[in-house]
Amino acid sequence: NQVNEIKHPLVQHLIGQLREHNRSPAQFRPVVDRLSYLLCYEALKNFATVPEEIRTWAGSTKVERLGDSGITVVPILRAGLGMLNGVMDLLPGASVSVVGFERNEETLQPHAYYEKWAPNVAEKTALVIDPMLATGGTFLATVECLKAVGCQRVHGVFLLAAPEGLDELNRQHPDVLVTVAAVDERLNELGYIIPGLGDAGDRIFN
Ligand code: PRP
Repeated sequence: NQVNEIKHPLVQHLIGQLREHNRSPAQFRPVVDRLSYLLCYEALKNFATVPEEIRTWAGSTKVERLGDSGITVVPILRAGLGMLNGVMDLLPGASVSVVGFERNEETLQPHAYYEKWAPNVAEKTALVIDPMLATGGTFLATVECLKAVGCQRVHGVFLLAAPEGLDELNRQHPDVLVTVAAVDERLNELGYIIPGLGDAGDRIFN
């Protein structure tokens, strides 16, 4: 995989704030918004623009437009919703597709309890958003759902990822791109990212 870990002082500063244990959801969400802007900016750095001739005060000139209607943003329920506002601010013409997963207690495999795909999803680039890639099980299942509906270009955008999950993604879907604010040390025995920030859904919503 092409994993782009953003090593930028602003991003590191904001991730440091999210790791603070005493930060309430009300204080946590605006930091996620800011990081979502910065991650989206990075994730789109090789995205093709469309030239357009426009009129300016000094006559006509060619400008570059972002073809954001060619993007479907895919928040993974529930924590991915926390990154949706920031990303949609930057990509107002993108469509939104939604997936939700729960773990089957017997097989421990993620099972999709909700899938709602944008029209023409097969022709779009999917920008999957979720704060965490831990074991990678949830994201791998999302990639499989997207490929099953014909989507060929998938890009995952995460706040934090664990090396174990990224390795598994590389084994199974080496074509998928990843943008992440920080790759942490490891997973603990419960599958939590260390040092991480705890349960992202709880930090955002509870
Ligand atoms: C978290 C996170 C990812 C998943 C990552 O969601 O937001 O979706 O776990 O773990 P994995 O890489 O090991 O699959 P969680 O299960 O806490 O659900 P929530 O978003 O509904 O809170």
